[in-house]
Amino acid sequence: MEKEVIELLKEIGAVEYKPANLQAALQDADALVVRSATKVTAELIANATKLKVVARAGVGLDNVDIAACAKRNIKVINTPGASTDAVAELAICFMIAACRNLGRAHFGMKNKKWEKKELIGGEIAGKTLGIVGYGRIGRLVAKKAKALSMSVIAFDPHSKSDEYAKLIPLEQLFSSSDILSFHCSVTEENKNMVNANSISKMKDGVIIINAARGALIDEDALYEACKSGKVRAAALDVYPSEPYSGKLLSLENIILTPHIGAATREAQERIGKELAEKLKEELKS
Ligand code: MLT
Repeated sequence: MEKEVIELLKEIGAVEYKPANLQAALQDADALVVRSATKVTAELIANATKLKVVARAGVGLDNVDIAACAKRNIKVINTPGASTDAVAELAICFMIAACRNLGRAHFGMKNKKWEKKELIGGEIAGKTLGIVGYGRIGRLVAKKAKALSMSVIAFDPHSKSDEYAKLIPLEQLFSSSDILSFHCSVTEENKNMVNANSISKMKDGVIIINAARGALIDEDALYEACKSGKVRAAALDVYPSEPYSGKLLSLENIILTPHIGAATREAQERIGKELAEKLKEELKS
């Protein structure tokens, strides 16, 4: 948790930051505030008899057992809109970086290599961007991509086409996109949706961007496809397990960042404010 967020939380009540034994500390707590690393399981909250609220500083609730909280009458809150700009900007940044081989160019320079001829890239202008998950972040990515002269298509069973993107079935999206960007949460149904089979149906030289959740992509399948060139390049911010230290690190045509999608000063400030306001409200009732 950022320092600023903790300061705001201290205005609501006593804060115990990163207790050595979280389960024990929860016995006296009214609220539990987490980011993505802490798994809020039924076991963790079993003895937390005073607990009224679990507050997730961020969007995804995949680390919170919502059913277990509901059973105990514990309210779960999050900050869904606070990091939309930060994540959308990272996705756009990833697209351009992957198209222009920025990862390899940067490391080449650091290793005193001048690979000008080897690093002919592509442009995003005129390319088709396929977005999986057309919620807040997906929509903002579409708006920004459109402004950068891309054609945008999207898949989301719960959304409709709008001025920025045409919504189409997933299979069609996979086979028609030059760049694919993921902006959905993970469910049992969409886990490993990028796998050897779905990759085989994508365009040769497709670029894959993931700033949503690591479990959407089968790591082995992506590794093989990046090696063969079927996937020209990929840029990932999220991994099946984090911190990540797996085999994708060895590939040159992949850009990897340590889950920094929401890590901007502006987003953290918004997350802190929104979280503090919601918590104050919940705890006064
Ligand atoms: C989120 O779900 O808000 C993001 O993955 C950011 C994070 O937890 O760091």
